Amino acid sequence: MPPLRLDSERLLLRPPQEADSPAIVSLIAEWDIVKNLSRAPYPYREEDAREAFARHQEGRARGTDFTFTLVRKSDGALIGKCGLHLQQSGFEMGYWLGRPYWKQGYATEAAARVLAFGFGELKADRIRAGWFHDNPASGRVLKKLGFVPDGADQHDCLARGHSVYCNLMTLSREDFARRCAA
Ligand SMILES: CC(C)(COP(=O)(O)OP(=O)(O)OC[C@H]1O[C@@H](n2cnc3c(N)ncnc32)[C@H](O)[C@@H]1OP(=O)(O)O)[C@@H](O)C(=O)NCCC(=O)NCCS
Repeated sequence: MPPLRLDSERLLLRPPQEADSPAIVSLIAEWDIVKNLSRAPYPYREEDAREAFARHQEGRARGTDFTFTLVRKSDGALIGKCGLHLQQSGFEMGYWLGRPYWKQGYATEAAARVLAFGFGELKADRIRAGWFHDNPASGRVLKKLGFVPDGADQHDCLARGHSVYCNLMTLSREDFARRCAA
């Protein structure tokens, strides 16, 4: 499969590269980020970034992982990741940004582009996402994108070492299309 690159107004979304690992670690390796993710360990080391890269690459070849590295167009800064992962119930979206890039609308912008890719190229009917009860910023991002509540469960969090109450959200193709048209 050729490398997939997507564009949004301020961001380039490109496939992860192993050479990103040091920059990824310099951004992700803090408690306030990994405590909100399912599969990121704490502490987070460069070997963890390389393992994540290998998982993304293998998953992309199988059509089960479409993770993008987010690069800011204005200065080429790597700012985080956003992607879709195929689970039993369909695609789930995940994202994180380095702290210097929070609260500037980048997560919402990147996720909107990834959702357009998921509904358009991957033909998903529905995309799901979840946010831990103590991470309202992520809940707000999903709400802004049109996601609606779809239950809750206890979800494993590797960094915390235990499961965490997780709000589940879902977005249908129709609701996404309506939102884009509005
Ligand atoms: C969650 C995260 C991705 C948000 O990224 P971001 O680029 O700051 O998001 P945006 O700027 O697009 O939108 C954030 C929204 O949350 C709001 N927000 C921020 N902190 C908040 C808080 N503590 N409580 C409620 N809302 C909050 C912002 O005001 C903004 O809403 P607004 O546009 O209506 O003002 C980022 O904080 C992050 O990477 N956190 C750590 C990893 C993580 O949580 N990943 C998601 C796992 S589900």
